[in-house]
Amino acid sequence: MGGIANGSDGAVRAATMATMAGGGAPRRGSDLGSPAVVRSGVVAWTDGIVTYAGPADGYEGAAPDDLGEVAVVPGFVDCHTHVPFFGWRADEYEARLAGRSYRDLHGEGGISRSARMLAEASDEQVLAFCRPLLSEMLAAGTTALELKTGYGLSVDAELRLARLARRLAGEVPQTCTVTLLACHAVPAGMERPDWVRIACDELIPAAAEQGLVDAVDVYVEDIAFSVEDLERVAVAAAGAGLPIRCHADQLGHSAAAEAAVRLGARSADHCNHTGPGGVAALAHAPATVATLLPASTFSLRAQPAPARDLIGAGAAVAVATDFNPGTSPVLSMPEVIAMGCSLYGLTTTEAFTAATVNPAWVLGLHDRLGTLEPGKRADFVVLDSPDLATVPYRPGHNPVVQTWIGGRDVSGR
Ligand code: NIG
Ligand code: FE
Repeated sequence: MGGIANGSDGAVRAATMATMAGGGAPRRGSDLGSPAVVRSGVVAWTDGIVTYAGPADGYEGAAPDDLGEVAVVPGFVDCHTHVPFFGWRADEYEARLAGRSYRDLHGEGGISRSARMLAEASDEQVLAFCRPLLSEMLAAGTTALELKTGYGLSVDAELRLARLARRLAGEVPQTCTVTLLACHAVPAGMERPDWVRIACDELIPAAAEQGLVDAVDVYVEDIAFSVEDLERVAVAAAGAGLPIRCHADQLGHSAAAEAAVRLGARSADHCNHTGPGGVAALAHAPATVATLLPASTFSLRAQPAPARDLIGAGAAVAVATDFNPGTSPVLSMPEVIAMGCSLYGLTTTEAFTAATVNPAWVLGLHDRLGTLEPGKRADFVVLDSPDLATVPYRPGHNPVVQTWIGGRDVSGR
């Protein structure tokens, strides 16, 4: 995991202070919509760790810097990205607009094409491509994120990608975890069961032994892998001491959400076609967050996930960018909050909970970040309006004026 050293001491006052504190993690059902938000609040820290976060009139330390009519919220946590990748696929988006489907393009285009582009690039080229993307994420308020492999499609190429992800994590100010997307597409010339066996017997143990990854992911879809494959991977991941996650019900229904809950996955991601069975499973899941990815829904012009059903039934929900060159060339969490509200019917406060504390839980970082409360890192963003609703209200506008990590202003890095 990356991240900068803890910063010095400090305190700021803001017209709105959304600490998101209290209530544990992940937040479920109606708790998503009632985060702690105070008018005229202060956050103070020592050595980069929060010592106070709450109403200004309850604060007794040294005079805070007054930021004025702004909001301070915990840094955004993007718990689903496909960085590192190399190169864009705008022509595939154009082809989809002209009537081709994502399934159609899978093979000549899609994941295999990104794998080919990556294979042809040097390590330095890949890092040079990804660095500015992570800077752009920082400018949009992302202070912690997931990096994911999946464009390797061979044991060596996946391990290379995991190493590149760790290098990138070491360079950027954000806290990064690395997920091994062990089963993303069946490598050319190989049968699906053969790749699953190699992923389980060779790739996952090697990645774990070399300390390269923090979790394992599987793309469950009719064009990719099955629920049975996910079950096999879950056994291999457990053997390697790694939690699992899965891409579930994105293009069609596969009951992967139910399987994710049954297998104790930390998240079931996408959930566009999750049915009543999956909603019921997620509602009662002790350890599985429904991670909704509205930007890929937007780009694919897909059916939205049943967000209101999930929250109404009591599920824990996160939102993330799914940043990737195929289905979601969107890296901004404020943009995702806007799409989560407009496309999925989230309220503003639900969307902020889903963009901070809940994704921190998905990445296993909730003890360190995701809310502003004593003992956690002073990772926060300053928004240009005290009204949080401005964020979903103004898609396309970057509301983030400052990004702080560990008590240091890292805006512009
Ligand atoms: O989460 N669905 C699978 N993986 C990505 C897309 C990958 C790609 O098209 O490059 C997703 O949407
Ligand atoms: Fe994804």
